[in-house]
Amino acid sequence: MTALAQRKIVLGVTGGIAAYKSADLTRRLQDVGAEVRVVMTPAATQFVAPLTFQALSGNPVHLDLLDPAAEAAMGHIELARWADLVLVAPASADFMARLAHGLADDLLTTLCLATDAPIVLAPAMNRLMWRNPATRDNVALLQRRGIRLLGPTAGSQACGEVGEGRMLEPLEIVQALSEEGAGQGRLAGRTVLVTAGPTYEAIDPVRFIGNRSSGRMGYAVAAAARRAGARVLLVSGPSQQSTPPGVERIDVTSAAEMYRAVMDRLGEIDIFIGAAAVADYRPAQAANAKIKKDAETLTLALERTEDILQAVAMQPRPPFTVGFAAETHDLERYARDKLARKKLDMIAANWVGGETGFDSVDNALEVFWADGHASLGRQSKDKLAEQLVDLIAERYHAKHSA
Ligand code: C5P
Repeated sequence: MTALAQRKIVLGVTGGIAAYKSADLTRRLQDVGAEVRVVMTPAATQFVAPLTFQALSGNPVHLDLLDPAAEAAMGHIELARWADLVLVAPASADFMARLAHGLADDLLTTLCLATDAPIVLAPAMNRLMWRNPATRDNVALLQRRGIRLLGPTAGSQACGEVGEGRMLEPLEIVQALSEEGAGQGRLAGRTVLVTAGPTYEAIDPVRFIGNRSSGRMGYAVAAAARRAGARVLLVSGPSQQSTPPGVERIDVTSAAEMYRAVMDRLGEIDIFIGAAAVADYRPAQAANAKIKKDAETLTLALERTEDILQAVAMQPRPPFTVGFAAETHDLERYARDKLARKKLDMIAANWVGGETGFDSVDNALEVFWADGHASLGRQSKDKLAEQLVDLIAERYHAKHSA
């Protein structure tokens, strides 16, 4: 069984000469056990007749958004819900532009807006259209939202030019989808460990040093990684958040316990995301009995805790390692410094002390990696987590295909 067996795939065909290859693609997808329903844009029907796809897929071809007969059989929302995966091949420059800007002016764009299934595009266009800054920006925007691209490749083009813009061959598309487990999430088959929440460092049996972290961001990241198909381990300090569905939670209290819990599982994980607000210092000696208030002043000697993130990143074969940085000033400088010094793959930095940050529902993140940067604007921590996990998946796959 391949990853595509019994998957329900909406195959979107847009207007380009490569549309003729999608007839073969329909067949190839069915060969590996997928169920295919074809949606064509009006321009696509100029290249290949809908009847071709109807005969090959064994299902009526969906053409119009506002066709009462088609809507009565399977409406566009039903189709959007039916899909496990939306594959658009060929994806034209015009289609990607409309998708990037959230237009819903035909059945295919509407369906893409209305589905929560993963969307994969196989672009095909003239090499200059592919290289055009407008297309580059649209592609970057779509990828930031978690839409995956397969190809294009370089080669001779229908227009007589030679360059990048050729659609992948149908077999290559099927292979790529099967291997990466598309339709089951971008992190299918990977194990992600997320640390979340504060740590409590004992002063005596009843008192501790803690911080204001609610754990909300880490829990949202764990939930998003799980939705992306990963096995997720959540090592959590004391937090009121409820465990996201399907996530394995390991409760800890102190930095030392969190360190142990993470180190014990290092062999199992592909991606480490350190979202916990780990205490940097702990009382050097926790008192065995409650400290009495005899003295006018009390001095506590503190010692450094283990730097969990650094310990993970310094392993001989580290997982893809993502840190967080909460800063009150010089955000980029400190974040980039931490990225390099701790040998991280990525760092997500946010401003604290203002309206966003530790205990708030909203947050905003500036994400840095060695040769890139993305600003994830202010929004709920759930949405932010979704985008961050998309970025992590993208960089993780880029690193492993390099
Ligand atoms: O250097 P700084 O503590 O600001 O780095 C913050 C990042 O390091 C966060 O990702 C946090 O989870 C992680 N961290 C850690 N262990 C510590 C301190 C911080 O994993 N002892």
